[in-house]
Amino acid sequence: MPALFTPFSLKDVTLRNRIAVPPMCQYRAVDGMVNEWHDAHYAGLARGGAGLVIIEATAVSPEGRITPGCTGLWNDAQAQGMARIAARIKAAGATPGIQIGHAGRKASANLPWEGDDHIADGDPRGWTTISPSALVFGGGLSKMPREMTLADIDRVRGDFVAAARRARDAGFEWLELHFAHGYLAQSFFSAHANQRTDMYGGSAENRGRFLLETLAAVREVWPENLPLTARFGVIEFDGRDEQTLAESIELVRKMHAGGLDMLNASIGFSTIEGRTPWGSGFLAPVAARVRQETGMPVASGWCMDDPQVAERAIADGQMDLVMIARAHLANPHYPYALALALGKEDPAWVLPPSYAHWLSRYKGPGKGAAQ
Ligand SMILES: Cc1cc2nc3c(=O)[nH]c(=O)nc-3n(C[C@H](O)[C@H](O)[C@H](O)COP(=O)(O)O)c2cc1C
Repeated sequence: MPALFTPFSLKDVTLRNRIAVPPMCQYRAVDGMVNEWHDAHYAGLARGGAGLVIIEATAVSPEGRITPGCTGLWNDAQAQGMARIAARIKAAGATPGIQIGHAGRKASANLPWEGDDHIADGDPRGWTTISPSALVFGGGLSKMPREMTLADIDRVRGDFVAAARRARDAGFEWLELHFAHGYLAQSFFSAHANQRTDMYGGSAENRGRFLLETLAAVREVWPENLPLTARFGVIEFDGRDEQTLAESIELVRKMHAGGLDMLNASIGFSTIEGRTPWGSGFLAPVAARVRQETGMPVASGWCMDDPQVAERAIADGQMDLVMIARAHLANPHYPYALALALGKEDPAWVLPPSYAHWLSRYKGPGKGAAQ
């Protein structure tokens, strides 16, 4: 049995394999509400065979959306739509997860295929952004955020708690806090974005405070028997990587002690000066280091779709779960492709019988003999 296809248990949840679909924004929500697109998209991914399907970055407040098309969990109608999707994912045999977050200074952006830059000031589609400090991100994301007051910090922490409660009531069994990718929580931790002089800025301990406090507050409402995880950028690839990694690992240890069950190790993306060394499996050694030095379960992704690379990452103990994103957009049945590549030819091994029965005799496009 390939290591990638062994079950994985965390708290009371057992995933059918080590393949996870990480959050991927669809940019198709209206007023934060999911619709027919999301229903079909997530059900298809779950039917494809992954053990865990995590719903896209879902904003804890309207101003926390990356774009006007992003999903939200700031009201009960949104939660009802999400409950429908959680049930569909579960019915297809995958564990339903959701990522909740706040986009901070990267919020109020145009859709990726409409520029991926900030909506111009004065355009009614946009809104005021907030961040630990009044510093622009740069590049196309040039909007100046408002520096958060202590009251803002309390409010956003409360918004995370309310969204976590709604996610729980909607039937999600896996919660991921979005502490990565240059959004609000990552901005608190990153010296690139945080120049505060109060208890939330300065030392690494202070820069980690918002993340730890938010985790603690969410832990109180998220069921003890279900996994609470966070996606956190442990490295920026900005030339200061040893220092960032050391500070990140220290913070992850504190998160672990504070009730975090698994880390989804990712990239900071807090600065346009980052130089990410893209390539197959490039982040796996970083994830392995975090896993080894913190002793906590670690998931990771980015360019992990090569079957052998993914298999080795689990077999060698670099990570506990492999996050595979874009390959699932190209083929929602990507776990079946992985199984084939790893020598498991019976489709019933991965896919539901309505597909597997026929595919066992189908030789592929153009090969004939389809029966
Ligand atoms: C369309 C799209 C939307 C994404 N949205 C999110 C998101 O909501 N939250 C997140 O943490 N990462 C998001 N990502 C990053 C993916 O989760 C993943 O880390 C990235 O695509 C790299 O993995 P891959 O090489 O397997 O595609 C998104 C990526 C894509 C392609």
